[in-house]
Amino acid sequence: MRLGFIGTGVITEAVVTGLLASDIEISEICVTERNQTISARLAAGSDRVQICKSAQAVVDSSELVFLAIRPQDAQDVLTPLLFSQGQHVCSLIATLTHEVLQGWINTPVRLFRAIPLPSVARHYGVTVLFPHDPQGEALFAPLGRVVSAGTVEEFDAFATASALMGTYFGVMETASGWMQSKGIVQQDSQGYLSGVFLGLAQAASENSNTSFETLRADHSTPAGLNAQLYDVFSEAGGPDALKAGLDSVMRRLAKARMIPLGEVE
Ligand SMILES: NC(=O)c1ccc[n+]([C@@H]2O[C@H](COP(=O)([O-])OP(=O)(O)OC[C@H]3O[C@@H](n4cnc5c(N)ncnc54)[C@H](OP(=O)(O)O)[C@@H]3O)[C@@H](O)[C@H]2O)c1
Repeated sequence: MRLGFIGTGVITEAVVTGLLASDIEISEICVTERNQTISARLAAGSDRVQICKSAQAVVDSSELVFLAIRPQDAQDVLTPLLFSQGQHVCSLIATLTHEVLQGWINTPVRLFRAIPLPSVARHYGVTVLFPHDPQGEALFAPLGRVVSAGTVEEFDAFATASALMGTYFGVMETASGWMQSKGIVQQDSQGYLSGVFLGLAQAASENSNTSFETLRADHSTPAGLNAQLYDVFSEAGGPDALKAGLDSVMRRLAKARMIPLGEVE
């Protein structure tokens, strides 16, 4: 299989690294030159990675083309390109809908959207697809887990949840800062919290049939320290703040779906 990537940034590096470390039969991966550092690193790491001269060369030489540019660059990059009718295309670009992308591509293509996470590089990822695409599933499944959204609203809900990554590290940052204010050195607070959260993520993954509510109860002795912290967090509006953030991102994605073609920023 010949794959191509237009836009060689953080997520392309993660996906390509994960794919090359899998057993999937890939004869060639063509990437665009920008970012030069990343494309050079990928090409130096595998003779299956080729740096193409242009985005059109990627389209011409790939059976499946991944779009991995930033949303604000997409129109300028996509409109001059000539795709073949029915070409298989996977957009990793946040917020841009099928309708908008198809309008800029201007040739009917077989398009699906995906949200891989950087951890696909180490095969710990979970990738959301919309709509379900058997070849997309075959490519992303070895890089972790795959879920397919049934509707664009579901896809946006997964995309919203994926925006929790920054908040996750923000929680760690706050807790680590608090520990440092009590005299613990940053390396120790960070190492401790990373270990605690790694164990919790493993527990959740190994008990995937157990609800988070039950896991929280299981990790909170009644009237114990964990229960106390969650009570104070709830009374201070922590869960409500989280829901407000999720609603706000979901509204942004819903608004992006309503913007007529040509008015996308
Ligand atoms: N990072 C994530 O976790 C993640 C996850 C899922 C989806 N996504 C989506 O994937 C897309 C890329 O995200 P990213 O985090 O990988 O961003 P990024 O690191 O900024 O990568 C985008 C790349 O596109 C290159 N580029 C800009 N203009 C170009 C052009 N005209 N032709 C070819 N390449 C061009 C940029 O090069 P320069 O640096 O030289 O400008 C950069 O290397 C975004 O739409 C994002 O929403 C990201």
